[in-house]
Amino acid sequence: MKITVANTTGIFHRTAAARIVAQMCSNPRSVIGLSTGRTTGKIHEAVCRMHDEAAFDVSDITIFGLDEVTGVDREYFGACYKMLLTEVVEPLGISRDNYLMLPTQSDDFAAECRKFTDEIARRGGIDLLILGLGENGHLGFNQPGTPLGSGAKTDRMDERLDARIRRETNTPDDVALGGVTLGIRDIMHARRIIMVANGKNKTAMVKAMLEGPVSPDCPASVLQLHPNCEFIFDKDAAAAINIDQLQKI
Ligand code: GLP
Repeated sequence: MKITVANTTGIFHRTAAARIVAQMCSNPRSVIGLSTGRTTGKIHEAVCRMHDEAAFDVSDITIFGLDEVTGVDREYFGACYKMLLTEVVEPLGISRDNYLMLPTQSDDFAAECRKFTDEIARRGGIDLLILGLGENGHLGFNQPGTPLGSGAKTDRMDERLDARIRRETNTPDDVALGGVTLGIRDIMHARRIIMVANGKNKTAMVKAMLEGPVSPDCPASVLQLHPNCEFIFDKDAAAAINIDQLQKI
């Protein structure tokens, strides 16, 4: 396991961003999966800054989102489609043909999941996948209890996120919200993974992910088994880890 611990939040964001930029430069046809949320927003900002400073070619890079909120309009600012569009796709000038997302609304999510994973496979599979860590150990919208061999699918969202989205979008209680996500099996097929977590709210779950048993109770624990996964933390998120081989930067 390669674990990198950044001494400050700024170094944390720039280190993760540098990995994404290095992937784009070393293979200009890379297929890169990104996650949304509080952790990755500033990482994406740093990627765009690096692109402004040293304009590398991204015309053949494919960007896709790991997961999506369901039951909302995709133009809602909290939809993953809209977040990645404004944080990465538009600032870098990635063409819409090279931006793949699961839909927020569909009558047949199973078919949409197949279409999405088929298109990723058609482009050669995932070269780099950036993952955030849910406070309850979720990966994408694979909530605790998800079988570790599962493919792309819909899942529930946690109560806090559900309440926040309802508030922000005025969604009434009788409209169901949820998530649609690459499955754990799809995640494990990525050639390279970088898991990023920062802040004190992630300390306990980082420890469970790395030192606990590999179990559906903590979907992120499956990353212990991936042959090419790097973990990048800030020092707060890494505070409880008892592993010797930490690279401190
Ligand atoms: C969210 C998203 C994930 C994200 C994770 C961490 O619910 N579905 O894709 O990686 O949870 O989010 P945050 O960085 O805001 O803690």
